[in-house]
Amino acid sequence: MECSWKILVLLIFISLAIQYTAIKSLRTNMMSPCTKTMVENRCGNIKVTDDITRALCEDINTRQSRKHILIFATARSGSSFLGQLFNQNPDVFYLFEPLYLVQYTLANKQPAIDRLSLLGAYRDLLQNLYDCDFYHLENYIKPPPKDHVALSFFRHAASKALCAPPVCKQEERLEENKCAKRCYKINMTLASTACRSYKYMAIKIIRIPEIDHLKTLVEDPRLNLKIIQLVRDPRAVLASRISTFGDQYRLYQIWNSSGKMPHNLDLNLIKNLCIDYSRSVETAFSRPSWLKGRYMLVRYEDLARDPIKKANEMYNFVGLEWKDNLTAWIEENTNASVPYNVNKYTTNRNSSETPENWRLRLHFNIVQAVQDICKKTLSQFGYQSVDSIHQLKNLSQTLIEPREFLPFV
Ligand SMILES: *[C@@H]1O[C@H](CO)[C@@H](O)[C@H](O)[C@H]1NC(C)=O
Ligand SMILES: *[C@@H]1O[C@H](CO)[C@@H](O)[C@H](O)[C@H]1NC(C)=O
Ligand SMILES: *[C@@H]1O[C@H](CO)[C@@H](O)[C@H](O)[C@H]1NC(C)=O
Ligand SMILES: *[C@@H]1O[C@H](CO)[C@@H](O)[C@H](O)[C@H]1NC(C)=O
Ligand SMILES: *[C@@H]1O[C@H](CO)[C@@H](O)[C@H](O)[C@H]1NC(C)=O
Ligand SMILES: *[C@@H]1O[C@H](CO)[C@@H](O)[C@H](O)[C@H]1NC(C)=O
Repeated sequence: MECSWKILVLLIFISLAIQYTAIKSLRTNMMSPCTKTMVENRCGNIKVTDDITRALCEDINTRQSRKHILIFATARSGSSFLGQLFNQNPDVFYLFEPLYLVQYTLANKQPAIDRLSLLGAYRDLLQNLYDCDFYHLENYIKPPPKDHVALSFFRHAASKALCAPPVCKQEERLEENKCAKRCYKINMTLASTACRSYKYMAIKIIRIPEIDHLKTLVEDPRLNLKIIQLVRDPRAVLASRISTFGDQYRLYQIWNSSGKMPHNLDLNLIKNLCIDYSRSVETAFSRPSWLKGRYMLVRYEDLARDPIKKANEMYNFVGLEWKDNLTAWIEENTNASVPYNVNKYTTNRNSSETPENWRLRLHFNIVQAVQDICKKTLSQFGYQSVDSIHQLKNLSQTLIEPREFLPFV
């Protein structure tokens, strides 16, 4: 061939053809080895060189062999702590809530973007990130990256992989604070390269309401996606949001301190949480074939009570090897004497103390209202309702019923 653009067009064509046929055949034959013959068979009468075969097979194989984990949670449900259990593992490339950037860019646009388009944009970003394509993320970073180098984007330093070589030129994986200072420039090309060298990728998100919105991602056989859904007692989530998101929950604060519900208060904030929780578990518990082997439900309360046991179960579910120093990390970080709420986003606190701490911080009237709204959700997850202030405040009587939520295999 004489013109290089012809080769380029040909490569793009082959890549598309292979991707298409690969997706089709992967459904039935996930692990078939990629060979030159296989590539040739699929490319009809196009002459396939060894270089093309190698490049395409490498791409297909690495994507297939990398395992992708999605931590599917809601705001103030303990997902930062759960995310750390993966972030601390040197085999895992972890990202902390990349969807924030999409919401920040799109949701504040005038005219407002509709809900379905926003969900579509969320999925597109996840799809690209799982593909280790960090250029797509650049569309949402401000100021726009120059020459594919971004200046510190939302909580990037919460990812140990982005705080380690080759992305961050330091000897070791830095802690978030140090990394945010020393490695605020992120070469997105290097981020993509680094990502490809990991066997696992885990992304934590809190902006997708229901599991059904993730269906197309789960069904994509290239992704080999496993979902860990984290839920938490809606009463606890509300208490935590009231203390954390002052502006949005101002009227709830008034309700909490006065015991009287302000008439213009937006109950949807709590209603939607419970509707989303219920819809997701109803889908999951109906055991649709698309979730088979791909879904695990974790209650934050169980994680907090015995983090090592739960972490082990999650590692088994995603097929990740346990590291001894992870045990040490958990012990250190669940035993710290940092009082709850001193640092709102800390994961370093006495985790066995916090799960039912909300009972001392929420007015009984709010508790009753939430119980009315979320009745179904509470019983689906095994969270008991209380009938009296006495029962609410007596912490020696737990409201968490023992429940075993086994992964759907
Ligand atoms: C655990 O040990 C590995 C090396 O064996 C290291 O890369 C990793 O940073 C350690 N993790 C923690 C949490 O200490
Ligand atoms: C980013 O990293 C790539 C790969 O190492 C390199 O080729 C490129 O020059 C870097 N970009 C900048 C602006 O330094
Ligand atoms: C609710 O009000 C009580 C009493 O004023 C206070 O101690 C508690 O911290 C408040 N709870 C939240 C979640 O702000
Ligand atoms: C807290 O620390 C003690 C002793 O260091 C240890 O026995 C215990 O298991 C730790 N608790 C958790 C939840 O890791
Ligand atoms: C953590 O909280 C539990 C329950 O309140 C308590 O028994 C334990 O002593 C606390 N541990 C530390 C290190 O504060
Ligand atoms: C709290 O509940 C426990 C267990 O049900 C009970 O034994 C205890 O008397 C209760 N305490 C108060 C102050 O009511």
